[in-house]
Amino acid sequence: MEFRKPSSPLRGEITVPGDKSISHRAVMFGAISHGTTRVTNFLQGADCLSTISCFQKMGIVIENTPSEIIVHGKGLHGLLPPADYLDAGNSGTTTRLISGILAGQNFTSCLTGDASIQSRPMGRIITPLSQMGASIESIRGNNCAPLKIQGHSLHGIHYDSPVASAQVKSCVLLAGLYADAPTSVTEPFLSRNHTELMLAHFGAKITSHQTTATIQPEPTLHGADISVPGDISSAAYFIAAALLVPGSEVLIKHVGINPTRDGILRVCKDMGGDIQLLNSTTTGGEPTADLLVRHSSLHGTVIEGELIPTLIDEIPIIAILAACAEGTTIIRNAEELKVKESNRLRIMVDELTAMGCDIEETEDGMIIHGGKPLHGAVIDSRLDHRIAMSFAVAGLAAEGTTQLLRADCVNISYPNFYEELAKLTE
Ligand code: S3P
Repeated sequence: MEFRKPSSPLRGEITVPGDKSISHRAVMFGAISHGTTRVTNFLQGADCLSTISCFQKMGIVIENTPSEIIVHGKGLHGLLPPADYLDAGNSGTTTRLISGILAGQNFTSCLTGDASIQSRPMGRIITPLSQMGASIESIRGNNCAPLKIQGHSLHGIHYDSPVASAQVKSCVLLAGLYADAPTSVTEPFLSRNHTELMLAHFGAKITSHQTTATIQPEPTLHGADISVPGDISSAAYFIAAALLVPGSEVLIKHVGINPTRDGILRVCKDMGGDIQLLNSTTTGGEPTADLLVRHSSLHGTVIEGELIPTLIDEIPIIAILAACAEGTTIIRNAEELKVKESNRLRIMVDELTAMGCDIEETEDGMIIHGGKPLHGAVIDSRLDHRIAMSFAVAGLAAEGTTQLLRADCVNISYPNFYEELAKLTE
């Protein structure tokens, strides 16, 4: 696919697809609850469809209709042994959260995924689940998937997580549903709290205090209605495009702005971005708003510490913004980026360098000396959806043509991304 500077500003309204993290959880928690869970604005991306297919393989009936997903839950102990490997595809959330549930079942299961999943670290869930008494093994012995999980009764633990990861926290809390005593997780900084909010909505006894979440075992979970807000991680590309293309004004409707996810808004404002929040409301404990974004002159900033988990998936697009901003942007404490769907630190540095940006990789982040005009280049997405979308936006700000290879991977989180971007640039 090719991208170049649009001939006119970006104008109009856009609704982004449902939040990926919340869509996954709605299906998972619905499956282990009693009764019916109805999910509207579910993200029909490949990752969330992997979650659906894993639970269907364990006997859960899930109807995927044009207006909603209907999950016919069977309770905490209602899953059936899968006849075959569970396939998480490209999805780290599916792999890590489902492992917590599988650890508490009375059957053995095997879990795998694509080449990216098979190289991502699973030691971070094997360690706490093993402490809880689970038998979970990396089949190739490299602490990656495929995983073999022999479920049985678990012990409640307190786990001090070395990483601020919602996937690790959620995995341990879900296993805690099947434990013999309360389970708590403390993380270095608070990561996204959708699990805590949504499990409470399904009837779990779960409390949060600062960076610790605690769950009581064996609750009776009941099906619930979930209305999924628009995904701020998907909105981020349109926020960036509107900020970068002169004259633009874009209204992004009904976006989730949970404070554990809204770091992109804080950083953009800090860089001088004109973003207004309109029609703020709360659905199922998740705050949402419409975002009105106008083209702005941006300047560099520093991004580090507790801010990092609130914008972890947005760092690639923030790097594009920083490349186009005046002055220097420093990103620290972002080493987690090396173990996402791809090594996002390395790839952002390599590909932005190819576009003429003055950027250097550091041990835990990057330093971007912004303001040098970007020029088009040939960019390979490495099959990472967020790399693809970030460079599609970079292409709108660069001189000449940016050619994006393996662009189709956006189907992971935003199947009609390019069509929506084209509509705003028409
Ligand atoms: C997610 C948590 C984050 C994020 C991922 C989705 C989730 O991963 O990067 O895209 O749904 O819990 P980590 O928990 O590994 O940081």
